[in-house]
Amino acid sequence: MTVPDLVVLRDVSYTYNAGTALMRPALSSINLSVPSGVTMAVVGATASGKSTLLQILAGLIDVGEGTVTMAAAAPYGAAAAMVFQRAEAQLYCPTVREDVGVGPTCLGLTSSLVERRVDEALRLVGMDPREFGSRNPHRLSLGEQRRVALAGVLAVEPRLLVLDEVGSGLDAGVRGDIMLSLREWREEIAGRSLVFSTHVLEEAADADRVVLLSAGRLLAEGSPESVLGDAATLELAGLEPTLSTRVALALGADLPCPVDARSLRMWLQGRVQT
Ligand SMILES: Nc1ncnc2c1ncn2[C@@H]1O[C@H](COP(=O)(O)OP(=O)(O)OP(=O)(O)O)[C@@H](O)[C@H]1O
Ligand SMILES: [Mg+2]
Repeated sequence: MTVPDLVVLRDVSYTYNAGTALMRPALSSINLSVPSGVTMAVVGATASGKSTLLQILAGLIDVGEGTVTMAAAAPYGAAAAMVFQRAEAQLYCPTVREDVGVGPTCLGLTSSLVERRVDEALRLVGMDPREFGSRNPHRLSLGEQRRVALAGVLAVEPRLLVLDEVGSGLDAGVRGDIMLSLREWREEIAGRSLVFSTHVLEEAADADRVVLLSAGRLLAEGSPESVLGDAATLELAGLEPTLSTRVALALGADLPCPVDARSLRMWLQGRVQT
C-alpha cells in the first residue's frame, strides 16, 4: 500500500527579496515529500533554511521556483498549521481562551464546538483550561506561551503540524513533555504528520525521518540512524554528531549508527552478545 503524501516539493527554490539589492537565497532545488502518518525532523546549522522550508511545507510562503502540492484538509480542519520559531509573537488576544479559539472560529465551528476544541487543545499541551483560560497570554512564562501557541494550532486539527524549534529556550523536562503530547496527538488520528525543526540532534533521533539542510540545500534525508549517524555528512553541514554517535564511532560502529542513549545501549548489548 502506498502512503499518500501530505506535501510534495519538486525542485523548490526560494530567495528572499528577489530582484532587489537585499536579495537573499534561502533554499535551492529542494525535492522532498512528507508522507502521511510520520514524524519528520529538520536539522541544519543556523541560516541553513530550516524556517524557510517549514513555512513552505505549511503553505505559508509562495515559492519562486518549483511546485508545491498539498493534500486537502479534513472537514472542519486545516491542511497544515505552524508554530513559528518565536511562538510568543503569534499570540495577540486578551485571554488564552480567545487566542486558542481564533482558528476553530475561523473554520466556521459553532461556539460550543469551539469551546470544546479549546478545552481539548489546552489539556493536550498540559494546561488546565480553568486555570489558564482567562489569563493574559502576554503575562505567561515563555514555556507557557509556547504551549498556548501550540494549543492554538492543535485546535484547528491540521493534517500536517509544523513546529519551528518549539522547544528552544525551554528546559529538557518541558521539551520532553511537549514532544510526548505531540506524539500522542499524531497517533490519535491515522494519517496525521508532524514536521519539526530542532538544534538538538537527540530530539531528531526520535523522529521517523530526518532531513539535513546545509546552506539551503537538502544534504541528506532518511532514517535518524542513517542521517545523524553519518558524521562526515554532518560535519559538511557544520553539525557535530551526538555524544552517543561519537561514542559508538569511537568503538567502531558503522552506518546505521546509534544516535541516542537508547540505541547506543542496544548496540552495546548486541556487541557484548556476539
Ligand atoms: N524575512 C527574511 N528576509 C530576508 N532574508 C531572510 C528572511 N528570513 C530568513 N532570511 C535568510 O534566509 C536564510 C535562511 O534563513 P532561515 O531562517 O530559513 O534559516 P534557519 O535554518 O531557520 O536558521 P536558524 O537556525 O537561525 O533559525 C538566511 O540566510 C536568512 O538570513
Ligand atoms: Mg529558523
